[in-house]
Amino acid sequence: MGKIIAVHSYKGGTGKTLMSINLATAFVTRGKKVCLLDLDFRAPSLYAALKADGSEYWLNDYLNGVCEIKRVLIDSTEKSGLNGGRLLLGLANPNTEAIRDMTAKDRKWEMRALGRLLALKNSLLNDMELDYIIFDTSPGLQYSSINAIVSADIVLVVTTQDTSDILGTRRMIQELYDLFDKKAALLLNKTLLSTTSFEKEIKEIAIRYEKTYNLPVLQVIPCFCDVLKAGGTFIFAKEKPDHPFTKILEEITTKIEKMEKC
Ligand SMILES: Nc1ncnc2c1ncn2[C@@H]1O[C@H](COP(=O)(O)OP(=O)(O)O)[C@@H](O)[C@H]1O
Ligand SMILES: [Mg+2]
Repeated sequence: MGKIIAVHSYKGGTGKTLMSINLATAFVTRGKKVCLLDLDFRAPSLYAALKADGSEYWLNDYLNGVCEIKRVLIDSTEKSGLNGGRLLLGLANPNTEAIRDMTAKDRKWEMRALGRLLALKNSLLNDMELDYIIFDTSPGLQYSSINAIVSADIVLVVTTQDTSDILGTRRMIQELYDLFDKKAALLLNKTLLSTTSFEKEIKEIAIRYEKTYNLPVLQVIPCFCDVLKAGGTFIFAKEKPDHPFTKILEEITTKIEKMEKC
């Protein structure tokens, strides 16, 4: 049975969307069948980042109980130009009214939405035999983020060296992941390396942050100018297969496969 991976963070701008897209596409190049879902209803991003075509229904409609998940999904395998597996997209509605509507939901609605997220295991992982569902989540501790974490098998926490991010992330891990007893690991993103002996420095940083968060560091990811310049639109697996960022993503997919077996 496939797995749900939630890509989460305490603050916005840590790199969740970039990591979600490039993780999904790294899995596709490995022959996996992947569904990438934009659960950041406050700041929908996949629509623009992937220049997606849009669909008759949005993920908002699925969570509102208006349609089945299959009506939302867009098969982007051909458009992405990736060989190997399959890439399905589920988009959050980027229109202002839809964003306001999603931010005004009450707890009762959120409970029903949790049921619908959990039902994806059956409809997508079981029936459609997908290998992975990747949630690009909303940052922080609001109910919609908690729903995504509760329904996931693995949580990847994207964090940076920003002090306010560190303190918030630490509290979030203690209060949320420990509470739900989730398989979780850190992606320490946009890391600034100050020496030329990268490998040694990366190891030291990983040890330091594992102590800070009491969570394994899956990967230390440097801040790349090329990634910044791409403005979040590159599918690195396709456009820059030899870039160090692509290699890092490949390493992360291997580590996730190991995590699944633990
Ligand atoms: N490792 C990195 N190196 C350089 N820029 C990065 C890196 N990771 C993310 N970024 C950039 O940071 C910005 C925010 O990333 P994004 O994925 O939109 O964050 P989030 O989804 O968490 O709000 C984007 O411009 C993205 O390209
Ligand atoms: Mg985002």
